[in-house]
Amino acid sequence: MTDTLSANWSLKEEIRTYWGLRAATFDDAFGHRIPPGPEFDAWSRVLEAHLGPAPLRVLELASGTGEVSRVLLSLGHDLTGIDFAEPMLERCRAKHRGDPRAVFRLGDAENTMEPDGAYDAVVCRHLVWTLTDPVAALRDWHRVLRPGGRLVIFDGDFVNLPWRGRLARRAIETLAKVSGTGAGRHRDPSLDAQHARILSGLPFNKGLRFPTLALLVEEAGFAAVRRESYAPVLAALRRIAPGAQEWLRTFLHDRFVLVARKPD
Ligand SMILES: C[S@@+](CC[C@H](N)C(=O)[O-])C[C@H]1O[C@@H](n2cnc3c(N)ncnc32)[C@H](O)[C@@H]1O
Repeated sequence: MTDTLSANWSLKEEIRTYWGLRAATFDDAFGHRIPPGPEFDAWSRVLEAHLGPAPLRVLELASGTGEVSRVLLSLGHDLTGIDFAEPMLERCRAKHRGDPRAVFRLGDAENTMEPDGAYDAVVCRHLVWTLTDPVAALRDWHRVLRPGGRLVIFDGDFVNLPWRGRLARRAIETLAKVSGTGAGRHRDPSLDAQHARILSGLPFNKGLRFPTLALLVEEAGFAAVRRESYAPVLAALRRIAPGAQEWLRTFLHDRFVLVARKPD
């Protein structure tokens, strides 16, 4: 193994371990689980707008605990989900057990091993920022799509805060001080440290920006690359936020939806 390959391998293993540790409480964090009501409805509308009519053969990368999967299935799509953290996958499978239109398997989103041209759409939420080799991943996603197939990426810049994000961060810290709760990303500070260590080794360690990703998506062979809004989901999250800190968190990051098409 070359030095670069082995460094990439150990980083990937650390990422896999990290998500494995996060699995038990992942759905407890505001914005992860998609509860019935305004948030579920917002996700349904956004996915329907970008995917078009069901049923499509959809490949969901980093299906995690199966929350976006639930929306895709409720829209009537046939779904294959891939995730490389077994504890995430176990939770996902438990939620969707018995659904004949859903298959979830252990695999690497950067090298899916799926057949060429097998899917009408590739969808992922909050995966791209944590890829170790985004160029290889996008080439692979292009390969598994049929001509005319859609790529829909939900992601954001989770490193740099826009001005409203900086204000929100300050307000969250003040509230945390007053209430005596933590303002960290995780309840377990060792996960904060692990997150920071992983982030420093990632290609998008300076933050994932739409223009950078759009260029990579085009270089991978996609066409009609455009930015769509995450606002409907954020608006729904604000309606259901259980407290001020959660409400403020929806202002922290610059999030985007990238939509593209594999040329016919
Ligand atoms: C922030 S979570 C998002 C989970 C899910 N997409 C959601 O939005 O609820 C990131 C997920 O990406 C998965 N992941 C990260 N890198 C991966 C890779 N190379 N292959 C497969 N899964 C990966 C992790 O295991 C984790 O489940």
